[in-house]
Amino acid sequence: MKALILSGGKGTRLRPLTYTGAKQLVPVANKPILWYGIEGIVAAGVTDIGIIISPETGEEVKTKTGNGELFGAKITYILQEQPAGLAHAVKVAQPFLGDSPFIMYLGDNLIQSDLNLFLERFKSQQTDALILLRQVSNPSAFGVAEVDGNGRVLHLVEKPKVPPSNLALVGIYFFAKTIHDAIASIQPSARGELEITDAIQCLIDRQKKVEACQLEGWWLDTGKKDDLLEANRIILDTTCLTKSIEGEVDTQSQVIGRVQIGQGTKLVNCTVRGPAIIGRDCYLEDCFIGPYSSIGNNVTLIDVEVDHSVILQSAKVVGIHQRIVDSVIGQRAQLTVTPQRPKALRFMIGDDSQIELT
Ligand code: TTP
Repeated sequence: MKALILSGGKGTRLRPLTYTGAKQLVPVANKPILWYGIEGIVAAGVTDIGIIISPETGEEVKTKTGNGELFGAKITYILQEQPAGLAHAVKVAQPFLGDSPFIMYLGDNLIQSDLNLFLERFKSQQTDALILLRQVSNPSAFGVAEVDGNGRVLHLVEKPKVPPSNLALVGIYFFAKTIHDAIASIQPSARGELEITDAIQCLIDRQKKVEACQLEGWWLDTGKKDDLLEANRIILDTTCLTKSIEGEVDTQSQVIGRVQIGQGTKLVNCTVRGPAIIGRDCYLEDCFIGPYSSIGNNVTLIDVEVDHSVILQSAKVVGIHQRIVDSVIGQRAQLTVTPQRPKALRFMIGDDSQIELT
């Protein structure tokens, strides 16, 4: 059994963060999203992992993630020159996959459940494809499946105007080698991509065995800002379970509840209310850090209040007197207000940035 993680793509919905970095490396609770997927796959006993990368962000993914040693796995990087679709990524990976059955995992997806259960079902039932489905309230935004009473998939449609059910396809699939023939026989869709839903539909049309399992726990597709914040909230809730302070906290500061503070970080006259995580080598003075905040390494925060937000490494925020909520602040971004009541606002804001003064 092998695994193929898709970490290429365009990441347009997470601009401007994705102008300078891979969306799969954006941190959730200070760990790249991609790494949760790798860990889940390794925990299910699959250690031969291929990762699809793009020419733009591939080097960063490779440098940060390494050869797999970090995870007890062997990682092979596979370059996809163009983001020509999920099925195209499988085509590009065919030399790596050979005839092996494999898990295909979209690198920006996170799920609560262990993969073991699904993997066992896939192996024991000898299916050509096992897909995971999750009930959603807005199926028109997803690939949607129609399933019979025995869990057999009858029909798949991509982003239907009139959805046949409320069961969306989660970005995790299990395939036998028959998927390669199916991919070879499909054509690009109207949006110009080789769609994995079309390849699975092709298996169904050829009377192959395509089954579905319903996910009960949470599923997050972190491709947009609010989904990323939701992922951060859920992961902090489930993984930040104790108080751990490796940095320096002065006597004027209060650290309440489940809070992790990294080495070399200094807090002066701050209140931190968990669950929250603050990385290494940060400097925080006169700040309030509220629940569900993740602060990356080397961040400077002076005289600010932050709540339910993700701040990436080396950012600096000074003197913002309104509480910063539901926000994502990119690497090295600077947000500074010097006088108490500024007379003017001076900006240098990247393309596709979003600033809301509410
Ligand atoms: P998407 O989120 O569907 O596509 P995208 O990354 O281009 O994002 P956006 O819609 O915001 O422009 O892709 C799901 C995952 O699959 C994501 O981790 C990127 C990856 N992917 C590839 O590796 N190759 C591809 O050709 C495509 C389309 C996606």
